[in-house]
Amino acid sequence: MSTKNFAIPVDKTGWQLQDNSGTVRFTWDYDTQRDRLINLYEKGKRRQWDAKTRIDWNLPMDPNNPAGGIDEMIPIYGSEMWNKMDQKAREELRLHLSAWQFSQFLHGEQGALICASKIVQNVPDIDSKYYAATQVMDEARHVEAYSMLLDKIGLAYPINFNLRDILNDVLTDSRWDMTYLGMQVLIEGLALAAFGGIRTFSQNELTRTVTAYVMQDEARHVSFGRAALKDYYPQLTSKERDERELFAAEACRMMRDRFLAVEVWETLGLDVNECTRFVVESESQSQFRSFLFMRIVPILKDIGLWGPKMRHAFEQMGVIGFADTDLEKVMAEDEKIADEIDAMRRHEVDKVVALGELDEGQNDPSSQA
Ligand SMILES: [Fe+2]
Ligand SMILES: [Fe+2]
Repeated sequence: MSTKNFAIPVDKTGWQLQDNSGTVRFTWDYDTQRDRLINLYEKGKRRQWDAKTRIDWNLPMDPNNPAGGIDEMIPIYGSEMWNKMDQKAREELRLHLSAWQFSQFLHGEQGALICASKIVQNVPDIDSKYYAATQVMDEARHVEAYSMLLDKIGLAYPINFNLRDILNDVLTDSRWDMTYLGMQVLIEGLALAAFGGIRTFSQNELTRTVTAYVMQDEARHVSFGRAALKDYYPQLTSKERDERELFAAEACRMMRDRFLAVEVWETLGLDVNECTRFVVESESQSQFRSFLFMRIVPILKDIGLWGPKMRHAFEQMGVIGFADTDLEKVMAEDEKIADEIDAMRRHEVDKVVALGELDEGQNDPSSQA
C-alpha cells in the first residue's frame, strides 16, 4: 500500500502487462522498504566509474600474450602438443586464448546488460527496480571496458555455445527468479571466480586493472541476487525448488565445460579430441575448474537450494567442499582489492595533474621571481 497522497485511490489500478518474455510490472508504491537493496542501490550510484577516464589505456600490452597469463595456466600446458610447439606457435596460442577469454567476458557482459534490463521490467517492487537500473548502467560500462580491451588485443571470438545456451534459457524463462538465479548467481558468480584468477595471476597491469574494477561491481550484483532469492525461495514448494536445483545443476555443468576452450583448438588446427582429453584429465586444469565454483556453491546453499539433487550434482563435480566457504570474507576481499587499485590509480592521476600544473607554472613568466 502506497503512502503517497494520491488524489484518487490507486489500489484498483494495479497494472501489469504481458510481453513475450514475461510479465511487465508497474508499481504505485514508491516507498522504499528493503534497506539491504536500497544500500546496494546507493552504493551503485556512488561507484560508477568511467572506463575511458579511470583506466590508463596507454599501459603496455604484450601482443603475444595480452592477458599476461603465466604458461602454467594454459589449458594444454605440459601436454605433448605443448612440448612440441615452437616459440611462434606458443605465442599464437597465448594470443588466441587471451582473445577467446576476454571475448566470452564481453559477450557475458552483454548478456548481463540484457538480463538486468529484463529485471527492471519484471520485478514487482520499486527497491529492486531502482537497484536493477544501476546494474543496467554497470553492465553497459563493463561491455564498453571489455570492448576497448579487445580492440587493444586486436582479435576476438564469437560467443561460446555453452554460454549462449545458458543465456537462452535464462532469457526465455518467464519466471522472474530464473533470471536472477541464472544471471546474478550462476553466470556472475562464476565470472567473479574467473576474474579473480586473472586479477591474481595476470602479469599485465591493464588487464588486472580492468578486471579489478569490474569485480567490484560484480560483487554487488551477486549480493543483490542472493538477497532477493533468499527472501523468495523458502516460499516455494519443494517441487518448485527441485526444478530450480535441476536448472542450476545443468547450468553449472555447461559453464564448467565452457572452459574447455574447444573453439581455440579448432581455430588453431590442433587435435580437438586430444586437447579436450588432456584438459579434462589434467590435475591442474580440473583444480582450476573447481575453483570457479568457490562462490556459487556457498551461495546456492545460502539461498536454500540445497536439496539432495543439488548436493549430488556438486559431489559429482567434486566441488561440494566449497559449501562452507566464508562468502562475506571473499566478497569483502574483492571490494578491498578493487579499492586499493582505485586508490593507486587516483594517486597517479593526481601526480600527473600536479606535474602538469608545475609545467604550466614554469612556463608562466608571472610565476618566475
Ligand atoms: Fe558485469
Ligand atoms: Fe554483473
